[in-house]
Amino acid sequence: MHAAAIAFDRFKPLQDEACQERIVAARARLGQRAVILGHHYQRADVYRHADLTGDSLKLSKLAAQADAEYIVFCGVHFMAEVADILSKPTQTVVLPDMNAGCSMADMANLAKVERAWRELSTVLDADKTVTPITYVNSAADLKAFCGEHGGIVCTSTNARQILEWAFARREKVLFFPDQHLGRWTGYLMDIPLAEMLVWDPDEEMGGLTAQQIKMARILLWKGHCSVHQMFQAQHVLRWRAQNPSGMVISHPECNFEVCKLSDYVGSTDFIIKTVAASPPGTRWLVGTELNLVNRIAEQFKPQGKVIQFMAPTVCVCSTMARIDPQHLAWTLENLVEGKVVNRIKVPEHEARLARIALDRMLAVS
Ligand code: 13P
Ligand code: SF4
Repeated sequence: MHAAAIAFDRFKPLQDEACQERIVAARARLGQRAVILGHHYQRADVYRHADLTGDSLKLSKLAAQADAEYIVFCGVHFMAEVADILSKPTQTVVLPDMNAGCSMADMANLAKVERAWRELSTVLDADKTVTPITYVNSAADLKAFCGEHGGIVCTSTNARQILEWAFARREKVLFFPDQHLGRWTGYLMDIPLAEMLVWDPDEEMGGLTAQQIKMARILLWKGHCSVHQMFQAQHVLRWRAQNPSGMVISHPECNFEVCKLSDYVGSTDFIIKTVAASPPGTRWLVGTELNLVNRIAEQFKPQGKVIQFMAPTVCVCSTMARIDPQHLAWTLENLVEGKVVNRIKVPEHEARLARIALDRMLAVS
């Protein structure tokens, strides 16, 4: 009989410091058999163990190229699903804490998207006129829906290229689950705000009339990231008044006013690279998750860069923070013992369709 996996209960009482040593030791024993991928929002005491880091697009590509037997994903659930879909069948993807989800991803689900599609089909020929685009922050079955209906996945890095791809094929887009990324990208493409209407999945016909649906170019799912909604235009205006020569950079999940007031808008990777490339002494106001902002503030302090978080209150992504040193140590020590805990495995039929939508994205970007 095989021995059972080591229970998490044994790791729960460990101090963070004790976990650090155990993570390093287990990591060393696994060697090339494991790769640890880390999203930029991971807490510092986890991020430091990542072999490779990136934004969602980069991490998708890294997962597709990885050779290791085990891909330990320090990020959130949808990211680990993408890693599973894009990696080889012989590889195993592990998410150290299954509670590491994304509240924005949960704002759309298959039943609601299928209902939206049925309702749209009463007004127009949805499969001929509407491209479904799902932000990568979504469950695998929504990516599968897009794969099946001529749609595609996008990330915050490639959203514009993906929308251009979509409009070259069909006249309209149903964009879910983040209305803010969809609106900002449409705005960059000169689509009038009046032609980007919010689709409320809790209302019949999305809360729109047939006439509105017919004239809309982009239907924006009523979803958002609660972390990025903490940043408000007044924060930018106040800071600008005190720092007239400072620069403002935001993630496109921020609301439209914040994006419009920013000097730069882009993905987490883009934010890090842009701040890194700025001249010594630059002052920055950054509208994205706190762990990332704290990290770059420390990193670029020696260059005299002053990096400030956009909101006056602490706003971390609490689900990203579920991946803590205790869970990482637990996961790795089990792998050393040949036990896989918290495997992320997307069902075959779903993975096949989702891969179509992801491959379309990778081909475009
Ligand atoms: P990035 O793709 O920019 O890393 O964004 C992921 C995310 O969840 C931002 O909230
Ligand atoms: Fe999801 Fe927002 Fe967290 Fe990103 S920051 S993972 S969108 S909840």
